[in-house]
Amino acid sequence: MSVLLKKGLIVTSAGSYTGDVYIDGDKIKAVGIDLQYKADEVVDAAGKYILPGAIDPHTHLAMPFMGTYSQDDFKSGTIAAACGGVTSIVDFDLQQKGESLLDAIERKKGIAEGKAVIDFSFHPAILDCRPDVIDEVKKAAEEYGTPSFKVFLFYDFRLNDGEMIKLLVATKKYGGLVQVHAENFYMIQHLNEVFEEQGKLSPWYHAKAHTVIAEEEAIDRAAKMVEMTGSRIYIVHLSSEQGLQKVRMARDRGINIYAETCPQYLTLDEERYNDPDWNGAKYVMSPPLRPREGQEALWIGLRNGDLQVVATDHCPFDFHGKKDMNGKDDYKKIPNGAPGIETLLMVLHTEGVVKGRISLERMVDVLSTGTARMFGLKDKGAIAVGKDADIVVFDPKQKFMISHKKLHMNVDYNPWEGWEMTGMPYIVYSRGRRVAEWSGDQVKFVGEAGRGKFVKRMPFQGF
Ligand code: URP
Ligand code: ZN
Ligand code: ZN
Repeated sequence: MSVLLKKGLIVTSAGSYTGDVYIDGDKIKAVGIDLQYKADEVVDAAGKYILPGAIDPHTHLAMPFMGTYSQDDFKSGTIAAACGGVTSIVDFDLQQKGESLLDAIERKKGIAEGKAVIDFSFHPAILDCRPDVIDEVKKAAEEYGTPSFKVFLFYDFRLNDGEMIKLLVATKKYGGLVQVHAENFYMIQHLNEVFEEQGKLSPWYHAKAHTVIAEEEAIDRAAKMVEMTGSRIYIVHLSSEQGLQKVRMARDRGINIYAETCPQYLTLDEERYNDPDWNGAKYVMSPPLRPREGQEALWIGLRNGDLQVVATDHCPFDFHGKKDMNGKDDYKKIPNGAPGIETLLMVLHTEGVVKGRISLERMVDVLSTGTARMFGLKDKGAIAVGKDADIVVFDPKQKFMISHKKLHMNVDYNPWEGWEMTGMPYIVYSRGRRVAEWSGDQVKFVGEAGRGKFVKRMPFQGF
């Protein structure tokens, strides 16, 4: 199957120009002006953008969590991704007690294969940090194709500082990258106890218990461990201006610390927790939404490079049935997480590019090119000869009113319900095959379950 995209605005992280892209099989075979190839399918892309498919390096599909499962599996979750212009994901693979990293990877591959419609990889999340698991870091980075490792400094399955240091030493040696959920467990536990005593148990107190000080402290501590070991870390779902300040200060000292933020922290704020009729539970996630005043700093961080990646932390739970399963009278029992995989590109384009907060090229970098570089996805992330033909032909003028009913995520609400988007995927290709297209007033899935394959990633090459 060959495809010729004609006269679109080809966007790269370094600049944009009008041109053509020729796809043959899985790969981009030519990029240039007025290409003269005969193709099975010719698409007039005039007035459209030709973007590398977005890469979401922070998803939780089919994940056991807080007494339930995140609701999207690898079929519904990757269909939603494809319809939103996401053509690769790197999902968290939570190691179970006693498992080796390889066991965990093979177990999760078994869950994903046959279902995924786009390519996927995994970050092993280290929950059982035994000496043999530290020893396995070399193989994970060099052989399994999973060189990034998630650690939690919060939740019951958090690592202690000693374990974290050992992991940093091993990852430094073998080209690994440690990804940190940075919140101080004991600070949050203390505030949980205070609010419990005072009977303050509504969703608003989730945000207050997960104080920004807990995020600042954990980033600072992790950065100090990196300074001592000479290793590197990547802060996941950075939520606050103060947290970013800590990242920036460490970077200014020459420490290898990188960070992602998410659309929810850029566009939604803590007032959501006061939504009537317990609707604030929809936004219970960790870290929580923060005051609106801090958002501009996150956009600046994206512009100036202190934040390198935007990811979703997609971890959906129904409002009716899951969020309210045990948590109606106690925010601590509300499953943490929210949907976002399908709205990543449209929200970043509408709120970032259209509103002039980031350039189109920067959007491509933080959604694709930089993400591919950070996580060793060597065949992904750019419109360039030899790369996988993971492409979004994007209509920058197409309007879309967000409604969970018109999206494909398996969840009964959307955090941006009713927001008007400007710019939507027109056609999405995953390794040269059409997987989604604009149809009527929404994007329709036209791909095939099981075509997505596990991608081995390269060890960290520097950023
Ligand atoms: O609330 C969140 N973020 N849920 C998903 C798990 C995690 O901490 O990333
Ligand atoms: Zn987390
Ligand atoms: Zn997460």
